[in-house]
Amino acid sequence: LSGPSTYEPKSGFTRWLDKRLPIIRLAHDSFIAYPTPRNLNYWWTFGAMLSLALAIQIVTGIVLAMNYMPHINMAFASVQRINRDVPFGWLLQPMHAVGASMFFLAVYVHMFRGLYYGSYKAPREVLWILGCLIYVLMIATGFLGYTLPWGQMSFWGATVITNILGALPLIGGAIQVWIRGGGAIDEPTLNRFFSLHYLLPFVIAGIVVLHIWALHESGQNNPTGVEAKAKQDTVPFTPYATIKDAVGLGLFLLLFAVFVFFLPQALGHSDNYIPANPLQTPSEIVPEWYLLPFYAILRAFDFNMGPIDSKTAGVFAMFLSIGVLFVLPWLDTSRVRSMRYRPTARWCFMIFVAVCLALGWCGGQNPGAVLAKAGPFSATLQYVDGGTAQSERLTVTSPALFQAAADAAQRRLTGEGAQMVDISREGGTEATVISVRGGAVQTHTITADTSDDLEDRITAYKHDVAARTPFVGITRVTPFLFTVTRLSQLLTFYYFLFFIVILPLLGLSETPNRVPDTIAKPVVGQAQGAA
Ligand code: HEM
Repeated sequence: LSGPSTYEPKSGFTRWLDKRLPIIRLAHDSFIAYPTPRNLNYWWTFGAMLSLALAIQIVTGIVLAMNYMPHINMAFASVQRINRDVPFGWLLQPMHAVGASMFFLAVYVHMFRGLYYGSYKAPREVLWILGCLIYVLMIATGFLGYTLPWGQMSFWGATVITNILGALPLIGGAIQVWIRGGGAIDEPTLNRFFSLHYLLPFVIAGIVVLHIWALHESGQNNPTGVEAKAKQDTVPFTPYATIKDAVGLGLFLLLFAVFVFFLPQALGHSDNYIPANPLQTPSEIVPEWYLLPFYAILRAFDFNMGPIDSKTAGVFAMFLSIGVLFVLPWLDTSRVRSMRYRPTARWCFMIFVAVCLALGWCGGQNPGAVLAKAGPFSATLQYVDGGTAQSERLTVTSPALFQAAADAAQRRLTGEGAQMVDISREGGTEATVISVRGGAVQTHTITADTSDDLEDRITAYKHDVAARTPFVGITRVTPFLFTVTRLSQLLTFYYFLFFIVILPLLGLSETPNRVPDTIAKPVVGQAQGAA
């Protein structure tokens, strides 16, 4: 569609350069004359925001690295020094830390946009896969960067993640030692993490160039998902897309500034303001917000799957949840690209977005926290009211005979009409058998809303009863509990269902709405209607 280059060098110098290195021609053809679909909406401005975010991270990162000390005894203090003593450090450090969050915020919108409008479908598979590669590198870079301030969350986050890698079968142990640079997280770990954290953004930048190359090769998708066919379907990149991107960038920078200047700490975890202490595990270890959905998927597997133990299953599921994105172009079988014309798929997509957000929420919660329960916690207490308690010694010649002797004692006492209370074993061959004669067995049921409350009430009741009469036993009943882990399991199920079942089957079975023949038609039609 872009056709032959329309660039005409105006001065002697540009004519001279154009013959030798047509770089101005490349920029002109890519960012000025480049034809963009005329119906692009603001969701198409996030690519520009991402480019800016990457540039900000690289520039602020380079200056920070000039003042940061990658040593376990100095890293934490050097970040404090940057914030307090280094000129403009107060601005650069929060810009870099907040920038990471803004980068992920933009990339998530960018990816959901691609998902909704089917931008991953042919002929944009390679464009999408390059994006997925960038995303994986972003996750790695974000994680590595978070360890650098060497706070409590840095240290323990690194411990958890490297332990996760250690759970991989066969090669896990070796990878773990290789990444840590030894058995534990220590100075070699911090050094290699710093080195890789410095390197990866440049690798990302390289892949972004390929990403945009692929984009310009296939042309941009648009909200209708109908390819631009004729000249009236497109407008030149400048001024149309440039102005729109500028508005998007302005809003992005505004939000960025709100966090940098007013809420610089809001997105971090308070424990990272405590220097790393290998001897003290924080009460909770949580990753940064943008990794929480994957953390929830990892923790959702609290059960073994046949020969695969729960930890390995969780690790696999977590890797698979990202891996599945790479094959998405071949999982979605629909002939219609944009979900604008796929009513059922649109609903499934909305649920998918909600599921991702809910997974993020679950990732930040205590996995055992109870969200709902079927009925109260209850306990039935048995004790003997009245009667006299008796105790007798039980001695056997070998520990192996103990159980048989205890059973025999119980049978004998019960046969004599006594109630058994307790057999408390002392050592391997001795025990005290307590029983009660006379009196009547009483039962008493206690219910409570939480298990802690129930235990308090049981203790209080036992104390009360034990003052009068021997205590016999307790049977506790726990109701079905819907915990954060159960919710994560349901959400994880939908996450995979969406990719592996819904998209492949829906594409074959649903009846899409009528798709316009060209991009220009509905746009021109509306304009005429309005006029
Ligand atoms: C550093 C990160 C990234 C940068 C700088 C970047 C940059 C861009 C730019 C400038 C565009 C064109 C404008 C637009 O459509 O918004 C674009 C398009 C696109 N990007 Fe990215 N991107 C990044 C990450 C990703 C990721 C992680 C994915 C998906 C996994 C992705 C998938 C796509 C797709 C499918 C398009 C084509 C959209 C269309 O034409 O409908 N990108 N990207």
